[in-house]
Amino acid sequence: MHEFLYKNNQLYCENILVERLAKTYGSPLYVYSYATLVDHFVKLRNAFASLDPLICYSVKANSNLAILKALVNIGAGLDIVSGGELSRALEVGCPAKKIVYASVGKTDQEIAKAINKGILFFNVESLPELVNINRIARGKNKVIKVAIRINPDVEVKTHKFITTGKITNKFGIDLNSAYKILLMRNKFKNVCICGLHIHIGSQITQGAPFVAAIKKVSNFINKISLKGIGLEYLNIGGGMGIIYDNENPQSAQIYANQITPLLKKTGLKIIMEPGRFIVGNAGILITKVLYIKKTPKKKFIIVDAGMNDLIRPALYGAYHNVVPLRKISQTEKADLVGPICESGDFLAKARNIAKVKVGDYLAVMSAGAYGFSMSSNYNSRLRAAEVMVARGKIFVIRKREVARDLMRNELIPGFLSKP
Ligand code: LLP
Repeated sequence: MHEFLYKNNQLYCENILVERLAKTYGSPLYVYSYATLVDHFVKLRNAFASLDPLICYSVKANSNLAILKALVNIGAGLDIVSGGELSRALEVGCPAKKIVYASVGKTDQEIAKAINKGILFFNVESLPELVNINRIARGKNKVIKVAIRINPDVEVKTHKFITTGKITNKFGIDLNSAYKILLMRNKFKNVCICGLHIHIGSQITQGAPFVAAIKKVSNFINKISLKGIGLEYLNIGGGMGIIYDNENPQSAQIYANQITPLLKKTGLKIIMEPGRFIVGNAGILITKVLYIKKTPKKKFIIVDAGMNDLIRPALYGAYHNVVPLRKISQTEKADLVGPICESGDFLAKARNIAKVKVGDYLAVMSAGAYGFSMSSNYNSRLRAAEVMVARGKIFVIRKREVARDLMRNELIPGFLSKP
């Protein structure tokens, strides 16, 4: 379900006319529907009710404080990957015992801070990292929980940049090495290996790879239990795909039906880390047409949002549907491009797009996940504002940047000021 629908040929977010938002707050503008966000979280929770999992929303997908707060308020935990994300999680009052921390490159400072704050556990991605966490915990005279991130080596049909569960990826630890680590677990006196973690990739629309990975891990759990090794948690990561174009992803319920029996058999407390599934279709990016440029070969619709606002098309060739805020029946093939000085700066390529005029607004759909969170200031562009529609009202959840924000941390050495 999502709450971006046409009524009388005009696009609405819940009951608010999107064009009104664009005119009031300017463009480019990210617009989120609170009802959609909550609906997706609740759908997942209901589908998995029989397991009562801890659903740790993956902060990287969209880390705006209002989004995090909305989810934490309805019971979500958070999956973090940096000290910055830890600060955000604490800022919105997420209980530390609902925070799990992955990343192949946790620094000593990040590890120390997470230990001090008492997070639930680290998802450990290598033996050297385990050694380091043990050392830092020893320095604090603590025994802390960790889960081993397993790289199950499964094939996933998604963009090659977003698969993470193949043995050639940098993530996780292969099963043989994990087995060896568990056998020597008593060497690490300051960590308790209490769980396993997998995350095999993102935008996965079929259940099969999840089932394959969970089966591998379940067999592994049986194997280690024969050695007297018991665990408490199984973290199955995120990765559930959504509809951008004509995908037909498994619904939360079908996904749950496929994997719940396998998960139940493990007897472990289940953790999941969905990002895109929750926020992907809860947000859109509004952009204004600046110029229509016709070349001998092509039509370009030049808009005020670029790859710095939404990098997914440039980075992955990702498809985002593009629709006008006021329905236009005629379409024409065009490239939708931004103002950035790169040929890779496009939001759509060779696409039948509504025949818009200068000054019209377009909505780039399904931009809630990995949209703003991957945005940048490239070309010294000011990052977009973000608004959330909730309960019939509009809330600015991030102000548009101003030039001062761009230069805030920059310093000109004194000798350059006095030539
Ligand atoms: N857990 C871990 C350990 C992850 O690395 C990720 C995403 C997630 C959970 C959440 O995955 P999701 O449910 O959102 O698929 N920027 C790319 C996606 C990168 C995903 C990185 N890891 C994109 O725009 O498609």
